[in-house]
Amino acid sequence: MDVVVRRMREGDIDGMVRVYLDCFRGMRDPKLVKEWMMCNYRAYPRMQYFVAEKDGRVVGYILWVEKGGFRKEAVLELEQIGVLKEFREKGIGSRLVLESLKEMRRYLNERGSKLKLVEITTGTSNKAQRLYEKTLKAKPECVIRNLYRGDELIMIARFL
Ligand SMILES: CC(C)(COP(=O)(O)OP(=O)(O)OC[C@H]1O[C@@H](n2cnc3c(N)ncnc32)[C@H](O)[C@@H]1OP(=O)(O)O)[C@@H](O)C(=O)NCCC(=O)NCCS
Repeated sequence: MDVVVRRMREGDIDGMVRVYLDCFRGMRDPKLVKEWMMCNYRAYPRMQYFVAEKDGRVVGYILWVEKGGFRKEAVLELEQIGVLKEFREKGIGSRLVLESLKEMRRYLNERGSKLKLVEITTGTSNKAQRLYEKTLKAKPECVIRNLYRGDELIMIARFL
């Protein structure tokens, strides 16, 4: 499939809001989603978005967040990933994880840092766990009870 994974540009935001609304239930008001995304976008390089684009349309995105400071041994959180329903299970989610992580590691190397680990929080029954095992070799670490809409599993992928 003709899909490109690249860094987000400001003009992608309306497409990303559509992806959010197709994927998540935490916010239903598109204006609020846009505001949240703009906050994240402006928080570069602490927060970094990448999008999957197909024929000029945003069909997915991923958000990375650096935690605990700009450390020599960097800790990243894969804060959010979503792909439009009609484009799922075609490998786009995997490409978003792997290609954006490569860029994140390039960014960290240029800063003189190394990636220590990636933390991911996901619903205990979310099939996305499989995606994180496959792409990052992430392993379940612990469960937080009743975090967003229910119990959430913390997964960790260690690189150092
Ligand atoms: C999770 C998500 C981003 C995966 O995107 P995708 O483009 O379907 O991912 P891929 O096609 O690369 O699939 C990768 C693997 O994940 C697993 N997987 C992911 N979602 C799945 C689903 N809904 N059903 C079955 N398997 C799924 C599969 O095992 C797949 O491995 P395979 O290629 O061996 O079958 C997408 O399902 C989505 O947007 N879901 C809603 C939002 C969400 O839950 N985000 C994660 C929050 S933590």
